[in-house]
Amino acid sequence: MSLLADWLLRHSVVMCLLLHSLVLMTFCFHHAATSCSKNCYCTESESGGKTVRCSNLQLTEIPQDIPNDTRRVYLDFNLLTTVPTNAFAGLTQLVELDLSHNELSELEPGAFRGLGSTLQFLDLSSNKLGNLTPDAFEGLRARANLTNNPWHCNCNLQMAMPRVDLEPASLTGVVCHTSEPEKIGVEGLAFLLAPDIDLCVEMKRTTDVAMLVVMFGWFTMVISYLVYYVRANQEDARRHLEYLKSLPSRQGKSEESSTISTVV
Ligand SMILES: *[C@@H]1O[C@H](CO)[C@@H](O)[C@H](O)[C@H]1NC(C)=O
Ligand SMILES: *[C@@H]1O[C@H](CO)[C@@H](O)[C@H](O)[C@H]1NC(C)=O
Repeated sequence: MSLLADWLLRHSVVMCLLLHSLVLMTFCFHHAATSCSKNCYCTESESGGKTVRCSNLQLTEIPQDIPNDTRRVYLDFNLLTTVPTNAFAGLTQLVELDLSHNELSELEPGAFRGLGSTLQFLDLSSNKLGNLTPDAFEGLRARANLTNNPWHCNCNLQMAMPRVDLEPASLTGVVCHTSEPEKIGVEGLAFLLAPDIDLCVEMKRTTDVAMLVVMFGWFTMVISYLVYYVRANQEDARRHLEYLKSLPSRQGKSEESSTISTVV
């Protein structure tokens, strides 16, 4: 009886292992057949097309094997720090891209190149973005979620705003975390909704003061040099003058001028 139980147990373990590997193999084949990005989870539907979910995978780089017919990509809750140039260039049917809850502090120029004609929604919320880079969004008309980022509101950001191609309402998500100059009181405000604040005026004022200081410095230097020069040459000049006066007045004008030129 115990022998039979033992036999059964041993074989069930083997069976189990076999079954397990069979399941794994099926899974792998399935994986290859539907061509999904490694470790990501893909679904496909008639109406919505292909969706690739790579959420919460501790990714530090954007996967390069996302199928080119994907319509939705979820890369949220990863550890991405940057979006390189042409990161999604092959995905010509992409409608929605979720990059929220990452560590993004930088978007390289042309980061979303190639998505301009199809992309409708871009989620960049809850990242570490501090400054706006219009070159990153070139040609992109999508609605973007830019909230929950530590935006640094300064003259650069103000000048960048009108150059960003995104759907204009997206820019209301740029809420100032810090500002330059510091005491202007825009922290916590959506920068776009505070139109009477001009951060570049402050900047210009600072530049003007700097210019004045520099000019004053120059002026002082020139004056001091002149004073020094005059002082140093005063003695010489006086001696020279006396010499000229002591010349006999009956000597001809031509000789006098030739003496001067010799002295000079
Ligand atoms: C996707 O890539 C394959 C070859 O890798 C190509 O045949 C196909 O046309 C591409 N599809 C799109 C939508 O770009
Ligand atoms: C933007 O993202 C934040 C958090 O990531 C979310 O709470 C908010 O609803 C989003 N806004 C829009 C307009 O989708």
